[in-house]
Order: sequence, then C-alpha cells, then structure tokens
Amino acid sequence: MRPKIICHMVSSIDGRLLPDRWTPPAAGIARGWQHRHYEAVAARLDADGWMVGRKSMQEFAKGIARTATGTSDTLRATHVADRRGRAVAVAIDPHGRLHYSQDNAGGDHIIAIVGQQVSDAYLAELRADGVSYLFAGEDGTDLREAMDVLGDAFGIETILLEGGGITNGTFLKAGLIDEISLLVYPGIDGLAGVPSIFEFLGAVDDHPAAGKALRHFGTETLEGGVVWLRYKLEAAA
Ligand SMILES: NC(=O)c1ccc[n+]([C@@H]2O[C@H](COP(=O)([O-])OP(=O)(O)OC[C@H]3O[C@@H](n4cnc5c(N)ncnc54)[C@H](OP(=O)(O)O)[C@@H]3O)[C@@H](O)[C@H]2O)c1
Repeated sequence: MRPKIICHMVSSIDGRLLPDRWTPPAAGIARGWQHRHYEAVAARLDADGWMVGRKSMQEFAKGIARTATGTSDTLRATHVADRRGRAVAVAIDPHGRLHYSQDNAGGDHIIAIVGQQVSDAYLAELRADGVSYLFAGEDGTDLREAMDVLGDAFGIETILLEGGGITNGTFLKAGLIDEISLLVYPGIDGLAGVPSIFEFLGAVDDHPAAGKALRHFGTETLEGGVVWLRYKLEAAA
C-alpha cells in the first residue's frame, strides 16, 4: 500500500516557488523565518521522510559518477540498502542524472526512484554508494507503482512531498496527494511566468487538479507572520 503523501511547501503570497526572489521581511522581523518554520513544521507532521524532484535533490547530490559493475538480473529489482533506522530522502530521478557518492542527504537515507531506462552501470553506482532504489516503470513516470513499492518494500507510511513545482504537479495530476501543508511567507514575487508550487507540464486545456476539492482543517500564524495552512484533498462533490 502506498504511503500517505503530504505536500509540504513554502510560498510567497502569490504562490510562487523560488524564495530567493521574494521581498524581504518587514522591519524588525529576522530573515530566515521561512526556513526555520519549514523544518519545524515538517517535524510536527510526523513523517518517515521527504521526497523531491531531481532538480531539488541536486543541492544534496554533489557526488561524481563512478565506475561500478554488477549483473543485470540482480540490479533490476528494488534494492533495499542499509537504512539503519534513519528517515528517508526520496529522489524522483527518471533518467538517473544524480550522483550521490554517499548514502544520505542531510543525514537521511537516500532512496532513488528511477526508470528502467537507466543503465546497469548507474544502478551499480547507486549500490556502491549505499543508496536504495526502486523503479517507476520504463521511463520513470509510473509514480503510483513507485509509491506502492515505497510503502510495501520500505515500510514508509507517511512521506512529505517537498517539491519542486514540476514534481508536485506530476503527483497532483496522478491523484497521489492526500494533504497540503502550505507555509505562506509574507512576501511577494510578482513577476509573470515565475513557477508556482504546482507546475504540471501539460497542455493549456489540462486540469491537473480535476476531480479534487480541498477541505481546510487547520490554520496557524507563526512567528514573523508566516501562516501555516492545512488542507485535505478529497473527491469533488
Ligand atoms: N518553495 C518551496 O517550498 C520549494 C521546495 C522545493 C524546491 N523549491 C525550488 O524549486 C526549484 C526546482 O523545482 P522544479 O519544479 O524546477 O524541479 P523539481 O520538481 O525539483 O524537479 C523536476 C525534475 O524532476 C524530474 N521528474 C520527476 N518526475 C517527473 C515527471 N513525471 N515528469 C517530468 N519530470 C519529472 C525531471 O528530471 P529530468 O530533468 O532529469 O528529467 C524534472 O526536470 C528549485 O529552485 C528549488 O529551490 C522550492
């Protein structure tokens, strides 16, 4: 069974994705509150770990490609490495572009979700790094299958989906988001075309959230004027 998926994000009041672009805090309010709140609220959500897209994981994946070998039969099955009780850091990386050179991101055990299209050499590299992996179909986009494996093979019951916008949009379209936990930072981006926290790459007549309705179940105003909003996604009436 797949885990419960809570999309946990921080945005400006215009729903934008990139914190570096937002207006600074008002006079007397310290910078950095959105980051501190983000981690503190994540801890309150009591998840087994977090999950991000390839671009968002890039800042943790500073390793280099290395030569490793293995045989195809053993490589092309779900690989559960030694997690040692740690929280998990799940990367959705359909083409196998990330190189880790370690088994953790910020101390959390890495699980790579890749497509069967990646090479044997890449899978052998993940094993040599101590990284776990599982497959999301041939091209890495079968997220429903991948989430089932994350639940069944790794025992993950609740996971935080932490962006970026493209990855959130893909999960939204697939109907895989159960809750949204949104920190609204009191700042503005304001520029047309800057990504929002949901960026499904579809046609203009696509409606990635079709069939869903949001039920509000919590609001808290946090220090510095950040507002924490909570919603459950349910079937639209
Ligand atoms: N405000 C926040 O709370 C927050 C949170 C996280 C990140 N961010 C920011 O978000 C930015 C990155 O966001 P992003 O939306 O550009 O990237 P992203 O969602 O992190 O990663 C997108 C990549 O994921 C891969 N991917 C996985 N599944 C896919 C699918 N089904 N369809 C297409 N691609 C799929 C693709 O990798 P390939 O290109 O390899 O195919 C794609 O380029 C960063 O600047 C980061 O700082 C903000």
